[in-house]
Amino acid sequence: MAMMTVQQIFDLGVKRGIENDPRGISGVKKHLTRVKKQYDELGENERKYFDTDRLTNPYPDSAVHVDDGKTKVKRILAGIDISAADILLASQLNERGTPVDLVISHHPTGKALANLQDVMDMVVDVYERIGVPVHLAEKMFEDRMREIGRGTHPANHFQVVDIAKLLHINFLSAHTITDNMVDSFISGHLKKKKPEFIKDIIEALLELPEYQQAKKNGAGPKIISGSGHHRTGKFIVEMTGGTNPSSKVYQPLSNYGISTVITMHMKDDAMNKATESSLNVIVSGHMASDSLGMNLWLDELEKSGIEIIPCGGLIRVSRNRLVSKKK
Ligand SMILES: [Fe+2]
Repeated sequence: MAMMTVQQIFDLGVKRGIENDPRGISGVKKHLTRVKKQYDELGENERKYFDTDRLTNPYPDSAVHVDDGKTKVKRILAGIDISAADILLASQLNERGTPVDLVISHHPTGKALANLQDVMDMVVDVYERIGVPVHLAEKMFEDRMREIGRGTHPANHFQVVDIAKLLHINFLSAHTITDNMVDSFISGHLKKKKPEFIKDIIEALLELPEYQQAKKNGAGPKIISGSGHHRTGKFIVEMTGGTNPSSKVYQPLSNYGISTVITMHMKDDAMNKATESSLNVIVSGHMASDSLGMNLWLDELEKSGIEIIPCGGLIRVSRNRLVSKKK
């Protein structure tokens, strides 16, 4: 395959994100049409502040931060979190004869962090499909999006991007893109396994090498509400949508037929609400789950001849190598 540019790599990510979007491809198209309409209706004064990337990229928490526009990418330094130190690491590797053509972070920084809340309303569609009345879903997500927006607003969003610019290191973030990939992968995996009991879900997760590694490191899948001998019932995988939803969602989910929630991580107040609502909750593990999503995308890049160097908490598992080992 021909070598890819930074933009081509990002575009491929967006494409995979859309293919794995819980709203379905048609749901994403509807969303993009809505964004276009909003853009068209803006006055000239407001239009100059509109990020036109949004017309084609439905994931404003994912973005290209630095791109020299010409590099054919042969080696990527990829992490769950990329700090200033990791950008310096890329620069050091460049000097030591292991040139890094692109750094990828999973967690958003730059404008992708400032826009994190804007991906969250995708989950409204998912809840509606489950049977939660849409006005309830909408209200809960609206409040939570505002809360997340207030939370990220004061951050120093561009600190790491600034270093990458100064050192001429190509840099992008892919957040909901790969969260969609892990969400749909785990949903598919669990549907195939048909876990009868909660402990079967843990077992199914532990078939995946990222979770095995995380368990060895003390951060494997855990039951935080309910019990291993409970029946699974109808379950929902909650691994995409920007960040955790409002803790208020658990009572309606329980009321409208969900028995079990599988999520990457959950704060105590949400766990308590879920427990009050008699839900079973499994936290699969944050880094392991984010890693799995990234790995699915990085594998495709690796297949096209790009070398991947993991850093920043990424548990790198190459399914290309797992397959070739089995042969
Ligand atoms: Fe994450």
